[in-house]
Amino acid sequence: MEKQRPQTVDDWIAYVEQRLFGHPLYYGHGTDNAGDEAAWLVTHIASADTGESIDLDMPVSSSQAETITTILTKRIELQTPLAYLLKQAWFAGYPFYVDERVLVPRSPIAELILNSFEPLLTSRPRRILDLCCGSGCIGIAAALQFPESEVCLADNSAAALEVTAVNLDRFNLADRVSTCKSDLFDHISGEFDLILSNPPYVSREEYAELPAEFHREPEVGLVSENYGLELPLKILQQSPQYLSDKGILILETGYTWPLLEDATAKLYKLWLDFEYGGEGVCAISAADLASYSNTG
Ligand SMILES: C[S@@+](CC[C@H](N)C(=O)[O-])C[C@H]1O[C@@H](n2cnc3c(N)ncnc32)[C@H](O)[C@@H]1O
Repeated sequence: MEKQRPQTVDDWIAYVEQRLFGHPLYYGHGTDNAGDEAAWLVTHIASADTGESIDLDMPVSSSQAETITTILTKRIELQTPLAYLLKQAWFAGYPFYVDERVLVPRSPIAELILNSFEPLLTSRPRRILDLCCGSGCIGIAAALQFPESEVCLADNSAAALEVTAVNLDRFNLADRVSTCKSDLFDHISGEFDLILSNPPYVSREEYAELPAEFHREPEVGLVSENYGLELPLKILQQSPQYLSDKGILILETGYTWPLLEDATAKLYKLWLDFEYGGEGVCAISAADLASYSNTG
C-alpha cells in the first residue's frame, strides 16, 4: 500500500526528521539533533504566511510542502546549515538575518547576555564593544538587554558588516548602535565597560577536519593562525587600552581554551560555566589585563 503523504505540521516534522536521519549530516548550527532541526524547518515554513504561532495538527498547504521539500533536499545534498537556507538564526531569543557572509550565531555568550552578565558586572555597562561581530548577534542582543547603552559592532569583513547592517535595521537600533570596519582594534576609539568577543579560534589543521557544514561558513570567521591562538592573543594584548577602569573583557575561544590558558597562564581568567551548553568563554577584568600586559 502506498504510504500517505504527510498532512499536518506534526506529520511533516516526523517525515523531515526521518529523512534527515538517513544522511550523514552534522548538527551544531542552531540545533544539535535531527528532531529539533525538523521542527525548526517545518514550523518556520508553516508559520511564514501568518507569522503567528502554529498548532501541531494544523494542515501544511501544498505550497508550504513544496518549500519544505526543496529546503530539505538542499540541506541533505549540499550539507548547508539550515539557518542559511531559512535566512534566519535565533540568538538570545531573537531572530537574526543570516546568510553565507557570516557565521551562524551559536555563541554561549547569549546566556551571559540574558543574565545581564551577573554577577560579573558591578554596574550596568554604558559603552559596549562587540569585536568580531559577524551578524552582530552578540552586540545587538546586548544592546537590547541594556537599552541605555551605546554599542559598537566591529568586524574586518565588509561582507559581514553588510549583514550586520540588515540586523541593525531589523531591530531598529541605528540610533545607539554603530558599526566599524576594523582589523581588531585598529579603527576603534574610546573606552568600553564591556568588550565582548567571539573571534576566529580554529586552527588550520582542525578546520580541514571539520564537517562540511562548517565549510559553508566564511573561513575568515573560523580560522586563526598559530594553532587558533593568533587573534585571541592579540585581543588579550590590545584590550587593556580600550577598557574602562571597572571594565570586563568576555572572550570566547571554544575548545581552544586549554591552549590559551597554557600560553597565558599568568593572566587570571574566570572560565565560565553554562547551563545551556558551551565552553571556553572567560571573563577578565581590566585590572588583570593591564597588569598582565605590563609584565608581558
Ligand atoms: C567566530 S565569527 C563570530 C561572529 C559573531 N560574533 C557570532 O558570534 O556569531 C568571527 C568574526 O570575526 C571576523 N574577523 C576575523 N578576523 C578579524 C580581524 N582581524 N578583525 C576583526 N574581525 C575579524 C570575521 O569576519 C567573523 O565575522
